[in-house]
Amino acid sequence: MDPFIRDLPKAELHMHIEGSLEPELMFQLAQRNDIELPYGSVEEIRAAYEFSNLQDFLDIYYAGAGVLQTEQDFYDMTWAYLERAKADTVRHVEIFFDPQTHTDRGIAFETVVTGIHRALVDGRDELGISFRLILCFLRHLSAEAAMHTLEMALPYREWITAVGLDSSEVGHPPEKFRDVFDRARAEGFLTVAHAGEEGPPAYIEQALDLLHVERIDHGVRCLEDDALVERLREAQVPLTVCPLSNVKLRVFDRIEGHNLAHLMARGLKVTVNSDDPSYFGGYVGANYEAVANGLGLAREDLVTLARNSFEASFLSDEDKAAYVAEVEAYAAERS
Ligand code: ADE
Ligand code: ZN
Repeated sequence: MDPFIRDLPKAELHMHIEGSLEPELMFQLAQRNDIELPYGSVEEIRAAYEFSNLQDFLDIYYAGAGVLQTEQDFYDMTWAYLERAKADTVRHVEIFFDPQTHTDRGIAFETVVTGIHRALVDGRDELGISFRLILCFLRHLSAEAAMHTLEMALPYREWITAVGLDSSEVGHPPEKFRDVFDRARAEGFLTVAHAGEEGPPAYIEQALDLLHVERIDHGVRCLEDDALVERLREAQVPLTVCPLSNVKLRVFDRIEGHNLAHLMARGLKVTVNSDDPSYFGGYVGANYEAVANGLGLAREDLVTLARNSFEASFLSDEDKAAYVAEVEAYAAERS
């Protein structure tokens, strides 16, 4: 990897922790927990990672998460991600977890959240990576199920900064979760939502108007609606864009056709993220490198993306300023 990209201080704001589970660890956890996988080897698992849309991917992703049983399993998965993040000079992470993927298999909410949180605390203390945790509701399940999940999260609210919305987008518009998000905000959670990945620009509008989100996850389809672009620009609503994910899931056919440079040129607050790095062929540094090479971004564009990543985070203004100063110092040293 280009050392300039590797060493650029950055935050990652859109990463599903279950999507960081590498085939090697999946295999190891299956053995440790005596779980039969439909694959005979690590190579077979990797070979199955051929998707042509979001649903193909989600089917494999939910199956892979079935190896996670104990608090230590969730710890080990999260720790492995943090070590990868450290290697890419990630200084701050805001990661998603999907509790329903686990509670629906009989794993306690407490097991999931405690394992992840414990690894995040160790990552902060030993790797110097600050963190926030975001609970995502699975939008293909009912609003009632999401409300029940929110209630399970209330005892852990000190550990969970925000709620989000992921899984199959089309046919499950943000409005379906309006009451759940109202309750979440009343309980003190911030909100984000996946919108405009495969779904239309109207879903982005709904996420803003009905769910009152602080950021839009993906949001790349906003360019189909000029008025929406102007609104996102005016309010500087961050978009957490995931370039390699978008190519793997065929939102764009090739990285050279990705609209990230257009989003930036329209004045939007764009960030670069990995989404599900184990499945999509690269961690956050690889995503920066893919857009740098594929779209011919200049170093100052990469610095803008890194600066945006901290400014779009849920850190305090003071912490944002300190990280942005780190980015500026890094850029100044190398210009
Ligand atoms: N869950 C994990 N990755 C996702 C994505 N890219 N879109 C929707 N749900 C997801
Ligand atoms: Zn995502």
